[in-house]
Amino acid sequence: MELYLDTANLEEIREIAAWGVLSGVTTNPTLVAKEYAGRGAKLTEEVLFAHLRAICEVAKGPVSAEVTALEAGAMVEEGLRLAAIHPHIVVKLPTTEEGLKACKRLSTQGVKVNMTLIFSANQALLAARAGAAYVSPFLGRVDDISWDGGELLREIVELIQVQNLPVKVIAASIRHPRHVTEAALLGADIATMPYTVFKQLLKHPLTDIGLRRFMEDWEKVKP
Ligand code: E4P
Repeated sequence: MELYLDTANLEEIREIAAWGVLSGVTTNPTLVAKEYAGRGAKLTEEVLFAHLRAICEVAKGPVSAEVTALEAGAMVEEGLRLAAIHPHIVVKLPTTEEGLKACKRLSTQGVKVNMTLIFSANQALLAARAGAAYVSPFLGRVDDISWDGGELLREIVELIQVQNLPVKVIAASIRHPRHVTEAALLGADIATMPYTVFKQLLKHPLTDIGLRRFMEDWEKVKP
């Protein structure tokens, strides 16, 4: 399973990319807004596109950039502009009627699409039929309402395997390291997670204690 960062923060991407384990990045309007909120000047398309280009260069892998238009024609226009930013860009579309129409048109033109906000196996099936390259079920948000995000992911992975659909599953809305393990065991192709979860994946108190002990013992005899 590949590991993606779910962020629009360049520093976070730089840090995790340096570990050598980062395969891509996903962003969404909320994450981009977080980077520009409170800066005073209004965010222009030029600044946004430069930011997305920089993310592509640092991530060195697929970068999902979400359209903000809600009507299919406008989504396609925006998607084509986003796709022209960099070859790594994957156009992210909401799983709505308009999103499906736009997905079909963009994928027919060779643009890779990530269908987002997926909360049912049937939505994933529709997205795949519309030519999506990726589907993003939101585990955490399902768990948030006391349903089972893992069960949603299991069903989608199975459906895609049984139907032999050419679409990758991105386990999204990851809240904690157990979600990552669960997604890997269930056969997700990718898990996209916030920076904090990425850091938690690595951390274990016994690793820190063990390393401290090794170094203390080595200090006593080192040449
Ligand atoms: C996926 O691509 C989304 O950006 C993301 O995982 C949403 O997660 P959230 O529920 O933490 O906002």
